[in-house]
Amino acid sequence: MMNEKQRLESQQVQTANPSDKKSVKDYSKYFETVYTAPSLKEAKKRGKEEVKYHKDFNIPEEFHGMGNGRKFYIRTYGCQMNEHDTEVMAGIFLGLGYEHTESVEDANVILLNTCAIRENAENKVFGELGHLKHLKKENPDLLIGVCGCMSQEESVVNKILKTYNQVDMIFGTHNIHRLPNILQEAYMSKEMVIEVWSKEGDVIENLPKVRRGNIKAWVNIMYGCDKFCTYCIVPYTRGKERSRRPEDIIQEVRQLAAQGYQEITLLGQNVNAYGKDFEDMKYGLGDLMDEMRKIDIPRVRFTTSHPRDFDDHLIEVLAKGGNLVEHIHLPVQSGSTDVLKIMARKYTREQYLELVRKIKAAIPEATFTTDIIVGYPNETEEQFEETISLYREVGFEAAYTFIYSPREGTPAAKMVDNVPMEVKKERLQRLNAIVNELSAEAMKKYKGQTVEVLVEGESKNNPEILAGYTRKNKLVNFKGPKTAIGKIVSVKVTDAKTWSLNGEMVEELDAVEVKQ
Ligand code: 5AD
Ligand code: SF4
Repeated sequence: MMNEKQRLESQQVQTANPSDKKSVKDYSKYFETVYTAPSLKEAKKRGKEEVKYHKDFNIPEEFHGMGNGRKFYIRTYGCQMNEHDTEVMAGIFLGLGYEHTESVEDANVILLNTCAIRENAENKVFGELGHLKHLKKENPDLLIGVCGCMSQEESVVNKILKTYNQVDMIFGTHNIHRLPNILQEAYMSKEMVIEVWSKEGDVIENLPKVRRGNIKAWVNIMYGCDKFCTYCIVPYTRGKERSRRPEDIIQEVRQLAAQGYQEITLLGQNVNAYGKDFEDMKYGLGDLMDEMRKIDIPRVRFTTSHPRDFDDHLIEVLAKGGNLVEHIHLPVQSGSTDVLKIMARKYTREQYLELVRKIKAAIPEATFTTDIIVGYPNETEEQFEETISLYREVGFEAAYTFIYSPREGTPAAKMVDNVPMEVKKERLQRLNAIVNELSAEAMKKYKGQTVEVLVEGESKNNPEILAGYTRKNKLVNFKGPKTAIGKIVSVKVTDAKTWSLNGEMVEELDAVEVKQ
């Protein structure tokens, strides 16, 4: 079994300035780290070694006070997993003595927690790095860091090295717990500090977290993905599937419940594979959800599901209801069996429809949302129309829709593609028109009904109005007292828009038993 040092040494070692070997040697003497850069080839590998669990994370004493008199700013791109990583990094910053700021001008450390899923997500980050350059001139103490999924890509690190010398540090998704060491090195070093592990690390428990808000919370249940859909960069940026132990998850959720949180979302790139990596027991997402039901917290969600691993036991448990909500986000990606095959999704159109039918039979109230990619390499008009017909057949209530974006290093990026961009754009528009139509239809059904809303705060556009979400994740704007914030109340729906409902608060839920 490799220890951390051996693992680091087994990875590709690279200095920001390879000719300056002396500085690298000096720093490694102090901090026992090496400069590591990502390798897609390494990231593709799936080793058999056991996942190790570390339950004793502490900020090393020598770093205490590092942030005294300094402020940090983190900008987050991408999915909930990234949002949650930002909460962990914020926890580490506070532990080091830094203060949080919402202004880049005031910050002494700026981190961009990046997303690699599509090219436009990456372009936003490069644009932002350009904007930040002038701050570096005004404030020489400022550190700028790039972390998250883009850091795991060789091509991105090379581009930053070449073009964005305002960046002081790059670190990846597997070693955010090493933020104190990385910051320290960045303060000491004149070179760009790069510490990206291509091979996933162990599971680290007890990381500090500063959660955004005190009403809803995210809880990681697993890391990584082994599905390797041909378009997707995630298995490379997030490593192999590693599940947290159920007792650690249950303890975290119990604590959140005791602190008064009203809703938790269990997070993973592919939550349906939860527990498949346990060697000592057979334990899956269904078993974990059954435990969640027993915890006194009003709502439990999970994301993201892969249809392939959505098993009968999970359906059976979800059908018990209670705090398990009736909304299922089930990415389908395409309605064509042929395209699904090229995507390596490992299910057919019919198998997907059969799964939805099974869930609806067990949970008649269930509503579905999905993710769809249009314009996959060589997607034909007929294949696209199959996506539209599947969308209608399932009766999805909302969807995230995307034009396929080639990701370097993935199998699909090498495919010859005969679909022109104008055709892809036109397909996206046609699909979105249907997505809007079905959402508006679903919303209309709520008019006149009373729904259960978890009140999150004032509405974005009007501080006189409150906003919250139903169990099925519908946004509701309504008139009600500020004291309702953080509570679950019942709201009578007076008007339905395409993506939200308007209403008036009836009373706090304790008095009325409604579930929508
Ligand atoms: N191009 C376009 N969309 C993608 N997604 C993942 N990879 C790509 C890509 N290369 C979409 C999928 C996934 C969602 C998070 O992003 O629909 O479910
Ligand atoms: Fe983006 Fe995927 Fe990384 Fe989330 S896991 S930040 S969606 S690339």
